[in-house]
Amino acid sequence: MNTAVFPGSFDPVTVGHLDIIARAAAIFDRVIVCIMVNGGKHPLFSMEERLRFLRAAITCIPNAQAVLCDGLLADFARKQGARTLVKGVRGCADFDWEFQMAQINRGLWPELDTVFLPAQTKHLHISSTMAREMIRYRQDLSGCIPAGALEAVLESAEGKDNYGK
Ligand code: PNS
Repeated sequence: MNTAVFPGSFDPVTVGHLDIIARAAAIFDRVIVCIMVNGGKHPLFSMEERLRFLRAAITCIPNAQAVLCDGLLADFARKQGARTLVKGVRGCADFDWEFQMAQINRGLWPELDTVFLPAQTKHLHISSTMAREMIRYRQDLSGCIPAGALEAVLESAEGKDNYGK
């Protein structure tokens, strides 16, 4: 079985992420969406909340599953028998960063490769950072959060009254 891991902080999952998951699921037998810690970011949602959002978003993709991992990505992939990481890229800035991460991960496990899927043009401006900003200002999230996850995100966002203040 050809398994790929799609890692990220998914704080929260966006329609751009969902598009990458669906496209990866059309290429690989199994896609494990792995919610991980990004040491450079201060998350809005807990890991468990993000897992709930992701699971609600991917119910329509039978060969995708979402899990939590707080360790090294390369170790996780090796334990899962997955030799491919999937990353979505929206442009040169994303690519520069992800290219470095691909080298680091390959250094940690030489059999681990990374494939890049270009974001669709309509998703280029969408990011979790943008979604968090929209949550902060109580803006309509329907264009950036997957329909299946919207209710759970709105419910969790209700409890974040002090976010950004
Ligand atoms: O969605 P993000 O925040 O860009 O995802 C980044 C993430 C979580 C994939 C990255 O920070 C990561 O791989 N974290 C796990 C720890 C790890 O393996 N780091 C790279 C080697 S030091």
